[in-house]
Amino acid sequence: MFHSKAFILSLAMLFPVFPAAAKPVEAPIPKLVSQDGRHALLVDGAPFLVLGAQVNNSSAWPTMMYKVWPAIQAIHANTVEMPIYWEQFEPKPGAFDYSVVDDLVGQCRKKNVRLILLWFATWKNGSPHYLPLWMKQDPATYPRMLGQNGRPVDSASPFSPNTLAAERRAFAALMRHLKKIDPQRTVIMVQVENEPGTWGAIRDHSPAAQKAFDELVPPEVLIAMGKPPRNPAAGWKQAFGKEADEFFHAWAVARFIGEVAAAGKAEYPLPLFVNAALRDPLAPGPPGSYESGGPTDNVLPIWKAAAPAIDILAPDIYMNEHPKVMKILELYGRADNPLLIPEIANAPEYARYFFPALGHQAIGFAPFGIDYTGFENAPLGAPKINEEAIRPFALNYELVAPMMRELAQLSFDGKLKAVAEKPGEARQIIDLGVWKAEVIYGVGQFGFADKAAGNPAPIGRALVADLGNHTFLVTGLHCRVELQVSGQAAGKQREYLRVEEGAFENGKFKVVRFWNGDQTDWGLNFTSAPQVLRVTMGTLTGPKGEQ
Ligand code: DGJ
Repeated sequence: MFHSKAFILSLAMLFPVFPAAAKPVEAPIPKLVSQDGRHALLVDGAPFLVLGAQVNNSSAWPTMMYKVWPAIQAIHANTVEMPIYWEQFEPKPGAFDYSVVDDLVGQCRKKNVRLILLWFATWKNGSPHYLPLWMKQDPATYPRMLGQNGRPVDSASPFSPNTLAAERRAFAALMRHLKKIDPQRTVIMVQVENEPGTWGAIRDHSPAAQKAFDELVPPEVLIAMGKPPRNPAAGWKQAFGKEADEFFHAWAVARFIGEVAAAGKAEYPLPLFVNAALRDPLAPGPPGSYESGGPTDNVLPIWKAAAPAIDILAPDIYMNEHPKVMKILELYGRADNPLLIPEIANAPEYARYFFPALGHQAIGFAPFGIDYTGFENAPLGAPKINEEAIRPFALNYELVAPMMRELAQLSFDGKLKAVAEKPGEARQIIDLGVWKAEVIYGVGQFGFADKAAGNPAPIGRALVADLGNHTFLVTGLHCRVELQVSGQAAGKQREYLRVEEGAFENGKFKVVRFWNGDQTDWGLNFTSAPQVLRVTMGTLTGPKGEQ
Protein backbone atom coordinates (compact mmCIF):
# COMPACT_ATOMS: atom_id res chain seq x y z
CA MET A 1 0.00 0.00 0.00
CA PHE A 2 1.23 3.44 -0.86
CA HIS A 3 0.99 6.34 1.59
CA SER A 4 1.80 9.92 0.93
CA LYS A 5 4.82 11.46 2.63
CA ALA A 6 2.55 13.85 4.57
CA PHE A 7 0.52 10.89 5.87
CA ILE A 8 3.65 9.09 7.08
CA LEU A 9 4.92 12.25 8.71
CA SER A 10 1.66 12.84 10.54
CA LEU A 11 1.66 9.20 11.73
CA ALA A 12 5.22 9.60 12.93
CA MET A 13 4.18 12.64 14.90
CA LEU A 14 1.28 10.80 16.52
CA PHE A 15 3.20 7.60 17.26
CA PRO A 16 6.89 8.36 17.41
CA VAL A 17 8.53 4.90 17.24
CA PHE A 18 11.91 6.28 18.27
CA PRO A 19 11.22 9.48 20.20
CA ALA A 20 14.33 11.64 20.02
CA ALA A 21 15.92 11.74 23.51
CA ALA A 22 15.85 15.28 24.83
CA LYS A 23 19.32 16.65 24.23
CA PRO A 24 20.78 17.97 27.48
CA VAL A 25 21.47 21.67 27.45
CA GLU A 26 25.18 22.34 27.24
CA ALA A 27 26.23 24.29 30.36
CA PRO A 28 29.40 26.41 30.49
CA ILE A 29 32.51 24.44 31.43
CA PRO A 30 33.32 25.02 35.12
CA LYS A 31 36.24 27.36 35.51
CA LEU A 32 38.29 29.27 38.04
CA VAL A 33 38.43 33.04 37.90
CA SER A 34 40.55 35.45 39.92
CA GLN A 35 40.32 39.12 40.90
CA ASP A 36 42.48 41.11 43.32
CA GLY A 37 44.12 37.93 44.60
CA ARG A 38 40.80 36.24 45.31
CA HIS A 39 39.21 33.37 43.44
CA ALA A 40 35.89 31.83 42.52
CA LEU A 41 34.89 28.54 40.97
CA LEU A 42 32.26 29.22 38.36
CA VAL A 43 29.70 26.46 37.92
CA ASP A 44 26.88 27.13 35.46
CA GLY A 45 28.53 30.50 34.98
CA ALA A 46 28.30 31.75 38.59
CA PRO A 47 30.41 31.46 41.77
CA PHE A 48 29.85 28.13 43.52
CA LEU A 49 30.87 26.69 46.87
CA VAL A 50 31.73 23.01 47.00
CA LEU A 51 29.82 21.75 50.04
CA GLY A 52 31.53 18.43 49.61
CA ALA A 53 31.95 14.98 51.08
CA GLN A 54 34.55 12.40 50.05
CA VAL A 55 33.75 8.69 50.10
CA ASN A 56 36.14 6.04 51.40
CA ASN A 57 38.85 4.84 49.06
CA SER A 58 37.10 1.63 47.96
CA SER A 59 33.54 2.96 47.87
CA ALA A 60 33.33 4.35 44.33
CA TRP A 61 31.88 1.19 42.81
CA PRO A 62 28.32 1.08 41.44
CA THR A 63 27.70 -1.89 43.76
CA MET A 64 28.52 0.21 46.83
CA MET A 65 26.49 3.31 46.04
CA TYR A 66 23.53 2.23 48.13
CA LYS A 67 25.78 2.64 51.16
CA VAL A 68 27.09 5.99 49.95
CA TRP A 69 23.95 7.97 49.12
CA PRO A 70 22.30 7.89 52.55
CA ALA A 71 25.43 9.44 54.08
CA ILE A 72 25.75 12.04 51.32
CA GLN A 73 22.13 12.99 51.83
CA ALA A 74 22.53 13.10 55.63
CA ILE A 75 25.41 15.56 55.33
CA HIS A 76 23.52 17.78 52.83
CA ALA A 77 26.45 17.87 50.42
CA ASN A 78 26.01 19.53 47.05
CA THR A 79 29.11 17.75 45.70
CA VAL A 80 30.53 14.27 46.21
CA GLU A 81 34.19 13.42 45.69
CA MET A 82 34.74 9.91 44.34
CA PRO A 83 37.83 8.12 43.04
CA ILE A 84 38.27 6.63 39.59
CA TYR A 85 40.76 3.79 39.83
CA TRP A 86 43.27 3.43 37.02
CA GLU A 87 43.41 -0.35 37.66
CA GLN A 88 39.66 -0.56 36.89
CA PHE A 89 39.71 2.02 34.10
CA GLU A 90 42.38 0.38 31.94
CA PRO A 91 42.22 -3.38 32.50
CA LYS A 92 44.28 -4.04 29.35
CA PRO A 93 46.79 -1.67 27.76
CA GLY A 94 44.88 0.91 25.76
CA ALA A 95 41.44 -0.66 26.45
CA PHE A 96 39.38 1.63 28.62
CA ASP A 97 36.38 0.61 30.70
CA TYR A 98 34.05 3.59 31.07
CA SER A 99 31.27 1.69 32.81
CA VAL A 100 32.09 2.82 36.34
CA VAL A 101 32.59 6.47 35.52
CA ASP A 102 29.37 6.48 33.46
CA ASP A 103 27.47 4.96 36.34
CA LEU A 104 28.85 7.38 38.92
CA VAL A 105 28.06 10.40 36.76
CA GLY A 106 24.55 9.09 36.09
CA GLN A 107 23.87 8.44 39.77
CA CYS A 108 25.10 11.90 40.77
CA ARG A 109 22.79 13.45 38.20
CA LYS A 110 19.84 11.53 39.60
CA LYS A 111 20.73 12.59 43.13
CA ASN A 112 21.23 16.16 41.97
CA VAL A 113 24.76 16.52 43.28
CA ARG A 114 27.93 17.54 41.48
CA LEU A 115 30.89 15.21 41.22
CA ILE A 116 34.61 15.76 41.73
CA LEU A 117 36.54 12.80 40.37
CA LEU A 118 39.77 11.75 42.05
CA TRP A 119 42.08 10.10 39.56
CA PHE A 120 43.88 7.43 41.64
CA ALA A 121 46.81 6.57 39.40
CA THR A 122 50.62 6.60 39.62
CA TRP A 123 50.53 8.00 43.15
CA LYS A 124 47.98 7.19 45.84
CA ASN A 125 49.31 8.28 49.25
CA GLY A 126 52.75 8.05 47.65
CA SER A 127 52.37 4.47 46.39
CA PRO A 128 51.67 2.95 42.97
CA HIS A 129 48.97 0.61 44.29
CA TYR A 130 46.35 1.74 41.76
CA LEU A 131 48.48 0.98 38.68
CA PRO A 132 46.71 -1.50 36.40
CA LEU A 133 47.74 -5.07 37.10
CA TRP A 134 49.57 -5.36 33.77
CA MET A 135 51.81 -2.49 34.89
CA LYS A 136 52.36 -3.77 38.41
CA GLN A 137 53.42 -7.12 36.97
CA ASP A 138 55.99 -5.47 34.73
CA PRO A 139 58.24 -3.42 37.04
CA ALA A 140 61.07 -3.50 34.52
CA THR A 141 58.94 -1.38 32.16
CA TYR A 142 57.15 0.63 34.89
CA PRO A 143 59.81 0.90 37.58
CA ARG A 144 59.63 1.83 41.23
CA MET A 145 61.93 4.46 42.69
CA LEU A 146 65.27 3.41 44.12
CA GLY A 147 66.22 4.56 47.59
CA GLN A 148 69.65 5.83 48.59
CA ASN A 149 70.65 2.22 49.34
CA GLY A 150 69.74 1.20 45.78
CA ARG A 151 66.69 -0.83 46.91
CA PRO A 152 63.22 -0.34 45.37
CA VAL A 153 60.86 1.90 47.27
CA ASP A 154 57.05 1.54 47.25
CA SER A 155 56.66 4.59 45.01
CA ALA A 156 56.80 4.97 41.23
CA SER A 157 59.84 6.52 39.62
CA PRO A 158 58.92 9.97 38.28
CA PHE A 159 61.70 9.45 35.74
CA SER A 160 60.02 6.56 33.94
CA PRO A 161 59.01 7.66 30.42
CA ASN A 162 56.89 4.50 30.09
CA THR A 163 54.82 5.17 33.19
CA LEU A 164 54.38 8.79 32.14
CA ALA A 165 53.31 7.85 28.61
CA ALA A 166 50.85 5.26 29.92
CA GLU A 167 49.30 7.66 32.39
CA ARG A 168 49.06 10.51 29.91
CA ARG A 169 47.19 8.24 27.52
CA ALA A 170 44.81 6.99 30.22
CA PHE A 171 44.08 10.40 31.74
CA ALA A 172 43.53 11.91 28.30
CA ALA A 173 41.03 9.10 27.58
CA LEU A 174 39.19 9.83 30.82
CA MET A 175 38.94 13.56 30.14
CA ARG A 176 37.93 13.02 26.49
CA HIS A 177 35.17 10.74 27.67
CA LEU A 178 33.96 13.22 30.31
CA LYS A 179 33.73 15.90 27.68
CA LYS A 180 31.58 13.60 25.57
CA ILE A 181 29.19 12.39 28.26
CA ASP A 182 28.86 15.48 30.44
CA PRO A 183 27.47 18.56 28.68
CA GLN A 184 25.51 19.17 31.91
CA ARG A 185 28.83 19.54 33.82
CA THR A 186 27.91 17.15 36.59
CA VAL A 187 31.68 16.71 36.98
CA ILE A 188 33.06 20.08 38.07
CA MET A 189 36.72 19.34 38.84
CA VAL A 190 39.21 16.49 38.72
CA GLN A 191 41.94 15.69 41.22
CA VAL A 192 45.05 14.30 39.54
CA GLU A 193 46.60 11.49 41.68
CA ASN A 194 46.08 11.40 45.44
CA GLU A 195 48.63 12.79 47.89
CA PRO A 196 51.49 12.22 45.42
CA GLY A 197 55.08 11.94 46.54
CA THR A 198 56.96 9.32 48.48
CA TRP A 199 57.14 7.90 51.97
CA GLY A 200 60.34 6.20 53.04
CA ALA A 201 62.78 7.97 50.68
CA ILE A 202 63.34 11.65 49.99
CA ARG A 203 64.04 11.27 46.29
CA ASP A 204 64.60 8.80 43.49
CA HIS A 205 68.16 7.43 43.16
CA SER A 206 67.61 5.50 39.93
CA PRO A 207 70.26 6.16 37.24
CA ALA A 208 67.88 8.46 35.31
CA ALA A 209 67.06 10.41 38.46
CA GLN A 210 70.71 10.67 39.46
CA LYS A 211 71.59 12.00 36.02
CA ALA A 212 68.94 14.71 36.34
CA PHE A 213 70.08 15.52 39.87
CA ASP A 214 73.64 16.05 38.60
CA GLU A 215 72.45 18.57 36.03
CA LEU A 216 71.79 22.26 36.59
CA VAL A 217 68.58 23.34 38.29
CA PRO A 218 66.04 24.49 35.66
CA PRO A 219 65.93 28.31 35.70
CA GLU A 220 62.17 28.38 36.35
CA VAL A 221 62.75 26.48 39.60
CA LEU A 222 65.47 28.88 40.69
CA ILE A 223 63.23 31.85 39.91
CA ALA A 224 60.27 30.27 41.71
CA MET A 225 62.38 29.77 44.82
CA GLY A 226 63.77 33.30 44.73
CA LYS A 227 67.29 32.42 43.54
CA PRO A 228 69.20 34.17 40.77
CA PRO A 229 68.21 32.29 37.59
CA ARG A 230 71.56 31.93 35.86
CA ASN A 231 74.39 33.50 37.67
CA PRO A 232 76.00 31.41 38.98
CA ALA A 233 74.49 28.44 37.18
CA ALA A 234 73.77 26.08 40.02
CA GLY A 235 73.36 22.38 40.63
CA TRP A 236 70.68 21.19 43.07
CA LYS A 237 73.10 20.81 46.01
CA GLN A 238 74.72 24.15 45.35
CA ALA A 239 71.40 25.97 45.06
CA PHE A 240 69.45 24.32 47.86
CA GLY A 241 71.93 22.65 50.24
CA LYS A 242 70.19 20.39 52.77
CA GLU A 243 66.88 20.78 50.98
CA ALA A 244 68.26 19.76 47.58
CA ASP A 245 66.96 16.17 47.61
CA GLU A 246 63.48 17.21 48.69
CA PHE A 247 63.19 20.12 46.25
CA PHE A 248 64.48 17.91 43.45
CA HIS A 249 61.83 15.30 44.17
CA ALA A 250 59.07 17.93 44.30
CA TRP A 251 60.20 19.16 40.91
CA ALA A 252 60.36 15.61 39.47
CA VAL A 253 56.90 14.60 40.74
CA ALA A 254 55.33 17.95 39.82
CA ARG A 255 56.77 17.84 36.31
CA PHE A 256 55.43 14.32 35.76
CA ILE A 257 51.97 15.21 37.06
CA GLY A 258 52.00 18.50 35.18
CA GLU A 259 52.43 16.55 31.95
CA VAL A 260 49.62 14.15 32.81
CA ALA A 261 47.38 17.10 33.67
CA ALA A 262 48.28 18.92 30.44
CA ALA A 263 47.36 15.85 28.38
CA GLY A 264 43.96 15.71 30.09
CA LYS A 265 43.33 19.43 29.88
CA ALA A 266 44.05 19.44 26.16
CA GLU A 267 41.03 17.12 25.83
CA TYR A 268 38.72 18.89 28.26
CA PRO A 269 39.74 21.96 30.28
CA LEU A 270 38.11 21.27 33.63
CA PRO A 271 39.82 22.75 36.72
CA LEU A 272 42.44 20.30 37.96
CA PHE A 273 43.98 20.03 41.39
CA VAL A 274 46.50 18.01 43.39
CA ASN A 275 46.04 17.31 47.09
CA ALA A 276 48.84 17.35 49.64
CA ALA A 277 49.76 15.24 52.64
CA LEU A 278 50.89 18.16 54.78
CA ARG A 279 53.89 18.72 56.94
CA ASP A 280 53.39 20.39 60.30
CA PRO A 281 52.89 24.03 59.24
CA LEU A 282 54.27 25.49 62.49
CA ALA A 283 57.04 23.06 63.40
CA PRO A 284 57.95 21.04 60.33
CA GLY A 285 60.36 18.24 61.03
CA PRO A 286 63.34 17.51 58.77
CA PRO A 287 62.87 16.30 55.16
CA GLY A 288 61.90 12.65 55.29
CA SER A 289 59.72 13.05 58.39
CA TYR A 290 56.76 13.83 56.10
CA GLU A 291 55.82 12.75 52.59
CA SER A 292 58.44 14.01 50.14
CA GLY A 293 57.72 15.36 46.67
CA GLY A 294 54.08 16.39 47.09
CA PRO A 295 52.89 20.00 47.30
CA THR A 296 53.89 20.63 50.92
CA ASP A 297 53.89 24.30 51.90
CA ASN A 298 57.66 24.74 51.38
CA VAL A 299 57.60 23.66 47.73
CA LEU A 300 54.42 25.29 46.44
CA PRO A 301 56.39 27.63 44.12
CA ILE A 302 58.24 24.64 42.62
CA TRP A 303 54.91 22.94 41.91
CA LYS A 304 53.49 26.12 40.38
CA ALA A 305 56.50 26.40 38.07
CA ALA A 306 56.73 22.73 37.13
CA ALA A 307 53.02 21.88 36.78
CA PRO A 308 51.22 24.89 35.29
CA ALA A 309 48.30 22.72 34.12
CA ILE A 310 47.41 22.10 37.77
CA ASP A 311 45.17 24.94 38.95
CA ILE A 312 45.07 24.26 42.67
CA LEU A 313 47.41 22.76 45.26
CA ALA A 314 45.07 21.69 48.00
CA PRO A 315 45.69 20.76 51.65
CA ASP A 316 44.27 17.60 53.24
CA ILE A 317 43.72 18.56 56.87
CA TYR A 318 44.24 15.92 59.54
CA MET A 319 45.72 18.12 62.29
CA ASN A 320 43.27 19.33 64.83
CA GLU A 321 45.17 22.11 66.59
CA HIS A 322 43.46 25.43 65.88
CA PRO A 323 46.68 27.44 65.23
CA LYS A 324 47.93 24.79 62.81
CA VAL A 325 44.69 24.73 60.86
CA MET A 326 44.66 28.54 60.65
CA LYS A 327 48.24 28.46 59.35
CA ILE A 328 47.37 25.84 56.73
CA LEU A 329 44.50 28.01 55.46
CA GLU A 330 46.86 30.96 55.22
CA LEU A 331 49.61 28.98 53.47
CA TYR A 332 47.36 27.47 50.79
CA GLY A 333 45.02 30.40 50.14
CA ARG A 334 47.26 32.52 47.94
CA ALA A 335 46.90 34.98 45.11
CA ASP A 336 48.19 32.23 42.80
CA ASN A 337 46.30 29.40 44.51
CA PRO A 338 42.59 29.18 45.29
CA LEU A 339 41.94 27.57 48.66
CA LEU A 340 40.25 24.18 48.37
CA ILE A 341 40.08 21.62 51.17
CA PRO A 342 39.42 18.36 49.37
CA GLU A 343 39.81 16.34 52.59
CA ILE A 344 39.41 17.09 56.25
CA ALA A 345 39.09 14.54 59.03
CA ASN A 346 35.52 13.57 59.81
CA ALA A 347 35.84 13.76 63.62
CA PRO A 348 33.23 16.24 64.94
CA GLU A 349 35.67 18.90 66.15
CA TYR A 350 36.86 19.44 62.55
CA ALA A 351 33.40 20.58 61.39
CA ARG A 352 33.88 24.08 62.77
CA TYR A 353 36.85 24.71 60.46
CA PHE A 354 34.42 25.03 57.57
CA PHE A 355 33.83 28.60 58.77
CA PRO A 356 37.40 29.94 58.81
CA ALA A 357 37.94 28.12 55.53
CA LEU A 358 35.14 30.27 54.08
CA GLY A 359 36.72 33.27 55.80
CA HIS A 360 39.91 32.49 53.87
CA GLN A 361 37.91 32.47 50.62
CA ALA A 362 37.80 28.68 50.25
CA ILE A 363 35.97 27.50 47.14
CA GLY A 364 35.26 24.14 48.73
CA PHE A 365 35.48 21.86 51.74
CA ALA A 366 34.95 18.09 52.09
CA PRO A 367 35.17 15.82 55.13
CA PHE A 368 36.73 12.47 54.25
CA GLY A 369 35.22 9.01 54.61
CA ILE A 370 31.53 9.92 54.36
CA ASP A 371 29.64 6.74 53.58
CA TYR A 372 28.08 3.85 55.44
CA THR A 373 30.37 1.10 54.13
CA GLY A 374 31.55 0.48 57.68
CA PHE A 375 35.13 1.69 57.36
CA GLU A 376 36.28 4.09 60.07
CA ASN A 377 39.65 5.79 59.89
CA ALA A 378 39.90 6.66 63.60
CA PRO A 379 42.09 7.99 65.17
CA LEU A 380 42.27 10.39 62.20
CA GLY A 381 38.49 10.57 62.06
CA ALA A 382 35.38 9.66 64.03
CA PRO A 383 35.27 6.23 65.71
CA LYS A 384 31.95 5.43 64.04
CA ILE A 385 30.41 6.96 60.93
CA ASN A 386 26.69 7.31 61.37
CA GLU A 387 24.18 10.12 61.28
CA GLU A 388 25.25 11.38 64.68
CA ALA A 389 28.90 11.67 63.63
CA ILE A 390 27.90 13.40 60.41
CA ARG A 391 25.58 15.88 62.17
CA PRO A 392 28.15 18.62 62.99
CA PHE A 393 29.13 18.73 59.31
CA ALA A 394 25.51 18.57 58.18
CA LEU A 395 24.75 21.66 60.30
CA ASN A 396 27.28 23.66 58.27
CA TYR A 397 25.79 22.67 54.95
CA GLU A 398 22.16 23.02 56.06
CA LEU A 399 22.93 26.57 57.09
CA VAL A 400 24.96 27.56 54.06
CA ALA A 401 23.36 25.60 51.19
CA PRO A 402 20.42 27.98 50.65
CA MET A 403 22.80 30.96 50.29
CA MET A 404 25.74 29.13 48.75
CA ARG A 405 25.76 31.25 45.59
CA GLU A 406 25.48 34.53 47.53
CA LEU A 407 28.30 33.56 49.90
CA ALA A 408 30.54 32.49 47.03
CA GLN A 409 30.02 35.91 45.44
CA LEU A 410 30.57 37.79 48.74
CA SER A 411 33.74 35.79 49.27
CA PHE A 412 34.96 36.59 45.75
CA ASP A 413 34.27 40.26 46.47
CA GLY A 414 36.30 40.10 49.71
CA LYS A 415 33.28 40.77 51.92
CA LEU A 416 33.14 37.57 53.95
CA LYS A 417 34.87 36.87 57.27
CA ALA A 418 34.50 33.87 59.56
CA VAL A 419 36.05 32.22 62.60
CA ALA A 420 36.04 28.96 64.56
CA GLU A 421 36.37 28.51 68.30
CA LYS A 422 39.88 28.06 69.68
CA PRO A 423 40.12 26.09 72.93
CA GLY A 424 40.94 28.40 75.85
CA GLU A 425 39.73 31.52 74.03
CA ALA A 426 36.13 32.43 74.80
CA ARG A 427 36.18 35.58 72.65
CA GLN A 428 37.35 36.41 69.15
CA ILE A 429 37.16 39.64 67.18
CA ILE A 430 36.23 39.93 63.52
CA ASP A 431 37.43 43.23 62.12
CA LEU A 432 34.84 44.90 59.87
CA GLY A 433 36.38 48.38 59.52
CA VAL A 434 33.99 50.87 61.13
CA TRP A 435 32.45 47.93 62.95
CA LYS A 436 33.75 44.83 64.61
CA ALA A 437 32.04 41.60 65.61
CA GLU A 438 32.89 40.04 68.95
CA VAL A 439 32.22 36.33 68.86
CA ILE A 440 31.67 34.82 72.30
CA TYR A 441 31.61 31.11 73.12
CA GLY A 442 30.10 29.26 76.04
CA VAL A 443 27.36 31.64 77.23
CA GLY A 444 23.65 31.03 77.49
CA GLN A 445 21.29 33.02 75.34
CA PHE A 446 20.15 35.25 78.19
CA GLY A 447 22.32 37.52 80.33
CA PHE A 448 25.74 39.14 80.28
CA ALA A 449 28.69 37.37 78.72
CA ASP A 450 31.25 38.23 81.43
CA LYS A 451 31.43 34.59 82.56
CA ALA A 452 31.94 33.20 79.05
CA ALA A 453 34.26 30.23 79.30
CA GLY A 454 34.07 28.65 75.88
CA ASN A 455 31.95 25.68 74.89
CA PRO A 456 32.74 22.41 76.72
CA ALA A 457 34.18 21.19 73.39
CA PRO A 458 35.33 23.74 70.79
CA ILE A 459 32.35 23.62 68.43
CA GLY A 460 31.54 27.32 67.97
CA ARG A 461 31.76 29.13 64.63
CA ALA A 462 30.57 32.42 63.20
CA LEU A 463 30.42 34.22 59.89
CA VAL A 464 29.85 37.87 59.03
CA ALA A 465 29.53 39.30 55.53
CA ASP A 466 29.48 43.01 54.81
CA LEU A 467 26.45 43.84 52.67
CA GLY A 468 27.32 47.56 52.63
CA ASN A 469 25.64 50.56 54.21
CA HIS A 470 26.24 49.26 57.77
CA THR A 471 24.29 46.12 57.03
CA PHE A 472 25.72 42.66 57.67
CA LEU A 473 24.79 39.08 57.07
CA VAL A 474 25.46 37.31 60.36
CA THR A 475 25.23 33.64 61.18
CA GLY A 476 26.90 31.05 63.35
CA LEU A 477 26.53 27.95 65.45
CA HIS A 478 27.03 27.60 69.22
CA CYS A 479 28.09 31.20 69.80
CA ARG A 480 26.98 34.75 70.53
CA VAL A 481 27.85 37.56 68.11
CA GLU A 482 27.99 41.17 69.32
CA LEU A 483 28.44 43.93 66.77
CA GLN A 484 30.30 46.93 68.18
CA VAL A 485 31.56 50.26 66.93
CA SER A 486 35.22 50.11 66.00
CA GLY A 487 37.88 52.34 64.46
CA GLN A 488 37.69 56.10 65.05
CA ALA A 489 34.16 56.03 66.43
CA ALA A 490 35.00 53.27 68.95
CA GLY A 491 33.30 53.73 72.29
CA LYS A 492 30.03 54.94 70.82
CA GLN A 493 27.00 53.00 71.95
CA ARG A 494 25.83 50.75 69.15
CA GLU A 495 22.25 50.16 68.30
CA TYR A 496 20.71 47.27 66.40
CA LEU A 497 18.50 49.32 64.09
CA ARG A 498 17.01 46.23 62.57
CA VAL A 499 17.70 42.52 62.93
CA GLU A 500 15.93 40.39 60.36
CA GLU A 501 15.92 36.60 60.31
CA GLY A 502 15.41 35.15 56.89
CA ALA A 503 16.78 33.20 53.98
CA PHE A 504 17.88 33.85 50.43
CA GLU A 505 15.41 32.86 47.75
CA ASN A 506 16.36 33.43 44.14
CA GLY A 507 18.97 35.95 45.16
CA LYS A 508 16.65 37.98 47.44
CA PHE A 509 16.72 37.93 51.24
CA LYS A 510 13.22 36.91 52.32
CA VAL A 511 12.48 38.03 55.87
CA VAL A 512 10.61 35.61 58.16
CA ARG A 513 10.65 37.78 61.29
CA PHE A 514 12.49 40.56 63.13
CA TRP A 515 14.58 39.78 66.18
CA ASN A 516 14.29 42.25 69.07
CA GLY A 517 13.97 42.30 72.87
CA ASP A 518 15.60 39.29 74.54
CA GLN A 519 16.71 38.04 71.13
CA THR A 520 19.00 41.04 70.60
CA ASP A 521 19.49 42.76 74.00
CA TRP A 522 22.24 40.36 75.06
CA GLY A 523 23.73 39.95 71.60
CA LEU A 524 22.82 37.68 68.71
CA ASN A 525 22.76 34.12 69.98
CA PHE A 526 23.21 31.15 67.70
CA THR A 527 22.53 27.58 68.78
CA SER A 528 22.49 24.49 66.56
CA ALA A 529 19.49 25.90 64.66
CA PRO A 530 20.29 27.10 61.15
CA GLN A 531 19.46 30.81 61.45
CA VAL A 532 20.65 33.62 59.23
CA LEU A 533 20.31 37.30 60.16
CA ARG A 534 20.52 40.50 58.19
CA VAL A 535 21.56 43.15 60.68
CA THR A 536 21.52 46.92 60.15
CA MET A 537 23.60 48.89 62.63
CA GLY A 538 23.55 52.43 63.95
CA THR A 539 24.70 54.32 67.02
CA LEU A 540 22.73 56.16 69.67
CA THR A 541 24.15 59.51 68.59
CA GLY A 542 23.05 59.25 65.02
CA PRO A 543 22.04 56.85 62.35
CA LYS A 544 24.41 54.30 60.91
CA GLY A 545 27.51 55.03 62.98
CA GLU A 546 29.15 57.27 60.40
CA GLN A 547 28.99 60.55 62.36
C1 DGJ B 1 44.48 10.82 53.14
C2 DGJ B 1 44.26 10.19 51.79
O1 DGJ B 1 44.29 11.18 50.79
C3 DGJ B 1 42.95 9.43 51.74
O2 DGJ B 1 42.78 8.82 50.48
C4 DGJ B 1 42.92 8.43 52.86
O3 DGJ B 1 43.92 7.48 52.68
C5 DGJ B 1 43.09 9.17 54.19
N1 DGJ B 1 44.33 9.89 54.19
C6 DGJ B 1 43.11 8.26 55.40
O4 DGJ B 1 42.00 7.45 55.52
